[in-house]
Amino acid sequence: MDVVILKDDAAVAAEAAAIVRQLLTQKPAAVLGLASGNTPLATYRRLIQDCKQGLISFRDVTTFNLDEYIGLGAEDPQSYRHFMQRELFEHIDIDPGSTFLPECGVGEDPLAIGPAYEALIRSRGGIDLQILGIGQNGHIGFNEPASSLRSRTRVKTLTRDTVEANRKYFDDPLKQPRTAITMGIGSIMEARQVLLLATGASKAEAVRQAVEGPVAAMCPASMLQMHETVTVLLDREAASRLELHDYFEWVAEQKRLLLDSRADA
Ligand code: GLP
Repeated sequence: MDVVILKDDAAVAAEAAAIVRQLLTQKPAAVLGLASGNTPLATYRRLIQDCKQGLISFRDVTTFNLDEYIGLGAEDPQSYRHFMQRELFEHIDIDPGSTFLPECGVGEDPLAIGPAYEALIRSRGGIDLQILGIGQNGHIGFNEPASSLRSRTRVKTLTRDTVEANRKYFDDPLKQPRTAITMGIGSIMEARQVLLLATGASKAEAVRQAVEGPVAAMCPASMLQMHETVTVLLDREAASRLELHDYFEWVAEQKRLLLDSRADA
């Protein structure tokens, strides 16, 4: 795992956007895995800015989001589809037909969505770069603790804690869904590159478990330790409980020195 500790949320967003920019420069028809939630918002704003300035284009990009609530339509302001439209898709030059979420329309069988979504991801060549946030309980997507570490895209029941953490987004608690369709941990592990973002003190314990704890279903994000190409971008607060904090800063310093010496050569 490449763990990078940055000053604040803005620095995390700048670094995350730079990684996406690099990918799109190398591969303009890249397949991006996207996340909802507060954490990636600043990154999306950077990407919108980059796109408006002509630094990158999403014309040939395909996106797959991690998850979607069951029972909220695209027009519902609390649905992740609506969130993605509002926070990213409407502001970039992406083809709306190339943006996918595991949505379950009225009358559709929720159990059939997962396998179809996975087939669609495969048909587009798989995910090049998956952006992830992390829940306070260590979830990625909506893979709650005790999810199988090899799980595939499927229906998941949210924990009471996750429902509570996301309550602030819902005016009417009775309309807040308790179930969602989420890419599985096994599905996420197939992305060629993973970028985990975490900011704020409320994520510090989950980050510690994910990066330094044992690989365990009780902290779904810990499975990322088994992925070959993961970058974890943290602000100081989210990194505050890491035992190897100083080591990660030392690594960053050594990398800088190495890059400088290459630039001098
Ligand atoms: C939500 C989403 C996740 C997200 C996480 C953290 O429940 N399903 O994809 O990463 O919780 O959200 P936030 O970034 O708002 O803290």
